[in-house]
Amino acid sequence: MRVIIGSDHGGLRLKAVIKELLNEMKIDFVDVGCDCEQSVDYPDYALPVAEKVAAGQFDFGILICGTGIGMSIAANKVKGIRCAVVSDEFSAEMSREHNDANVLAIGERVVGPGLARKIVKTWLTTEFAGERHLRRVKKIHALEGGKE
Ligand code: RB5
Repeated sequence: MRVIIGSDHGGLRLKAVIKELLNEMKIDFVDVGCDCEQSVDYPDYALPVAEKVAAGQFDFGILICGTGIGMSIAANKVKGIRCAVVSDEFSAEMSREHNDANVLAIGERVVGPGLARKIVKTWLTTEFAGERHLRRVKKIHALEGGKE
């Protein structure tokens, strides 16, 4: 499994926690930045992550900003991306099992480090259930002009 991760300044500390977890889980990842506390614009980090996941270069993307919201709005503009903003374990599980989310957005100002670790672990280890959910995901794909 290959993961690509990015944050703005508002998600920098939580990104460090998540990178530590990925190392513990022996998951290969690339960090697209940012890597300093100075104020940056979250779409500049959401876009490379979303584009590389959509292109199939990475299996999953993880984006962290203050709330997770800006990152998710930006990432979801990229065709083929299903980015879920998650702040609880149940939604982490469902966003994979039912929605086949391929990008996870988390807010550092919303979720503490312990819960964030659980969310990421659950999200990365939950399989898409397919079947009726596949039909629904295909309908989302059709909304983007793709074939159902
Ligand atoms: C940055 O201040 C903040 O707006 C950003 O991290 C994010 O929360 C936006 O959705």
